[in-house]
Parts: sequence; structure tokens; C-alpha cells
Amino acid sequence: MEFLHSLPKSKVLFGDGKLKQLGSEAANYGSNVFLVTGKSSMEKLGFLDKTKKYLNREGLSYTHFNEVTPNPTTETVNKGAQLALGEGCDVVVALGGGSAMDAAKAIAVVAGHKPNGGSEDIWDYISAAQDDSEPITEETLPIITVTSTSGTGSHVTPYAVITNPDTGGKPGFGGPPMFPEVSIVDPEILLEMPPKLTALTGFDVYSHVSENIVSKGDHPTADPYAKEAIKLVSEYLPIAYNNGDDLEAREMMAVADTYAGLSNTIASTGLRHAMEHAVSGHYPEVSHAQGLASLAIPIMEYNIEHGDKKTLERYSKIAKQFGEIDKVTSQKEDALKSVTALNDFLGKLELDKGLRELGVEDSSIESMVEGTFEYMKGDIEHNPVIPDRQDVKEIFKQAM
Ligand code: NZQ
Ligand code: MN
Repeated sequence: MEFLHSLPKSKVLFGDGKLKQLGSEAANYGSNVFLVTGKSSMEKLGFLDKTKKYLNREGLSYTHFNEVTPNPTTETVNKGAQLALGEGCDVVVALGGGSAMDAAKAIAVVAGHKPNGGSEDIWDYISAAQDDSEPITEETLPIITVTSTSGTGSHVTPYAVITNPDTGGKPGFGGPPMFPEVSIVDPEILLEMPPKLTALTGFDVYSHVSENIVSKGDHPTADPYAKEAIKLVSEYLPIAYNNGDDLEAREMMAVADTYAGLSNTIASTGLRHAMEHAVSGHYPEVSHAQGLASLAIPIMEYNIEHGDKKTLERYSKIAKQFGEIDKVTSQKEDALKSVTALNDFLGKLELDKGLRELGVEDSSIESMVEGTFEYMKGDIEHNPVIPDRQDVKEIFKQAM
């Protein structure tokens, strides 16, 4: 066995009403906050006002940037970084889902490096986009996140995902300086997620850990997080979806999201994330998690069909966590029970949709195949079976 495990550095404050501690936490890192949100949800729900109040209370000044859209773009990040620099901000706070958190991390990279001679374009820091990317160093401004979804795990990972609207390229990137210093997980905010967003983000959690479990290599320190997260998602996501006011279900999904972020920091995602980024990169109106859901079944079938004994065993672990089998084996029929379980689960969450239903056109398949191989090489290399372009094309067709 062989593995590498660096401890994540984020401090997580978890609990009802913890948003109140934002000001005192931020004051440890700066005095002039760049506050990053999406366009409207946090304002409508009253959390933006609360956030401003908690920053004011500690004597912090702030600039609010509310231009982040789902699947955030290089343009938005570069604009935010310019503004943060112009205002002399010294700490970046995200209040929102994965999109706001990722945009904030990326803004912290550009705003931290540019005054020291770094590029003003986030794309130049993305290693998947070029061979000679600029390094992401400790010059990155300190990052604090308040997560408003239980999905991406971004509050405890050193990663961000940014789309280049010119090419449809949507790579993930990161490095230790992009770990949030502090992350607040406040279920009061999570209770407000509507059912569809609950289902989508919950499925993203499942995706991270199920891909982590089957990914290439040994990851004994990720597996316990991943296995527990699958169990939590299978039990609590249907409850949170059907009764959004169930606090216990919301809390357990937030725990699962945190476990998944930790697992994802150690182990890698695979072909499902590689192919999905090409989908939502080309179609920004498609949510990341719906793209994952539409691709899930054909990719699992492909991996099980061509996977080795260890892969079958890992899929049977997933089936066991879903309660489909009692014992982990390397039998194909047990591995396939993870597919049946997921099919039922997607049905319960009303996520069982083909890509065409999401607006994806057959004419985009070639370009999505290229995007998968160009920007998501790392995830492809970690998939238990290494596909070629023809395999990926066939899977896209099946997922349509
Ligand atoms: O934009 P606003 O107005 O804030 O509304 C958002 C948005 O419309 C709304 N929303 C968020 N929290 C809410 C809420 N509405 C009501 N109540 C709340 N509590 O929901 C919509 C979706 O928000 P978004 O942030 O886009 O969702 P999610 O958390 O799923 O993030 C998705 C993004 O994260 C990336 C995805 O690719 C995508 O860009 N990912 C980031 C990862 C990472 N950093 O490690 C890993 C993931 O695999 C993923 O790729
Ligand atoms: Mn994801």
C-alpha cells in the first residue's frame, strides 16, 4: 500500500447560528473584507444583511461583490479581483454555494498575486489549462467561506472550478493556499435550500465519495469519510428532499458534505466529474450535479464492465453502504447492485434525466469529448478504467 495524505488546514465552525461568529473570525485575517455572493439568494433570505451586521460589529469594512453566477467564469473572477485590489481588500469572504466559494477562492488568488507581479487573469494560474501556469503561493489572500449548500465540499477543499466562456473549458484547480482558513457551516442557511437544489447538491456529495472510493490507488484515509458519507446521503438526502425543515437531515447532509470534501482532498474524482465539467462548461445553464446524475449510470456500467477485481470490490462497497448487500465481494453481480441502487435513488430524487432533456445537443458531443480530455486529464487518470476518445463518445451518446 502507498499513499500521500496532507492534513487540510480549514477550521470548521459547525452549528445553528454560527454565522454570528463571522466577524470575529474574519478580524483574525484582515480588516477590509471582499464579500463574494451570488446574485440574489443570500440577499432575499436575509443572510446578506446578517453578514454585513456581523462584519460591522467587529469594525471591519467591506466591499460586496454579488456578480457570481452558477458555474462561475474567468470574467467574473477577474472583474472581482480588480475590484478587490482597487478597494485594498485583505481578506476574501464567500457567502453562498460552490459557485460563490470557488469564485472567492479564485479572486483571492489573483488579488493576492497581482500586486507582486502575478497575472491579472485567473486562467494563467490554472495548470490544467497550460503547461507553464503561474504558481499559486501563500500570496493568495486569506479565504473564509460560509457555505449555503451541502454539495461541493469546497468549504474544506483547496480546489475551485472556473469556466472559460470563450472555450467552454471548465477545469478544476487548486493548491494548499486555497484551503479556506475558516469555514462556517450554519444549518439555518441550509434549511432554506428548495427541494430541487437539495437533491442536486446532495447528489454532488454522493458523486464525490462514490468516485473517490473507486478511484485508482490506495486511499485508506479517505475511505472511512467516503463510506460514511454514502451511508449518510442514502439515509438523509431523501428526508431532506421531502421535508426541507427536518433539521437533523440538514445537519447530517452538511456532515456528509464535509466528509466528502475531506475525502475528495485525499482521493480523486473520476470519469463522471471529468465528463460533467465538459457538459456544464459548454452549457452553463446545466447545473453541475444534474450533469453528474445524467452521466452516472452509463459510466458505472462502463467501469464495472471493464474494471478489474479491485474495481468490482470497490463498487460492491458502495452497494453495501446503500444496504443492497451484506458483504463486500468482487462479484460482478454485487458490483452491479450499486447501479440498481443508484438508479432507484435518482428516481426518488427526480434526477433521472438524459442530457438531451437538459438542453444538450448531439452536435456538441465531439467538442465535449475534446473538453473532457483537454481539461480533466487528472480525473481521467484516476478513473479505474482509462477510456479513449471513442469510449467517452459512446458514454455521452448513452447519456443523451
Ligand atoms: O446565486 P444565488 O442567487 O446565490 O443562488 C444560488 C444559485 O442560484 C442558489 N442557492 C445557493 N444557496 C442557497 C440557494 N438558494 C436558496 N437557499 C440557499 N441556501 O442555488 C443556486 C446554485 O448555487 P451554486 O453555488 O451554483 O451551487 P453548488 O453549491 O452546487 O455549486 C456548484 C459549483 O461548484 C462547482 C461546480 O462545478 C459549480 O460550478 N464545484 C466545485 C467543487 C470544488 N470547489 O471542490 C467540486 C465540485 O465537484 C464542483 O465541480
Ligand atoms: Mn462535484
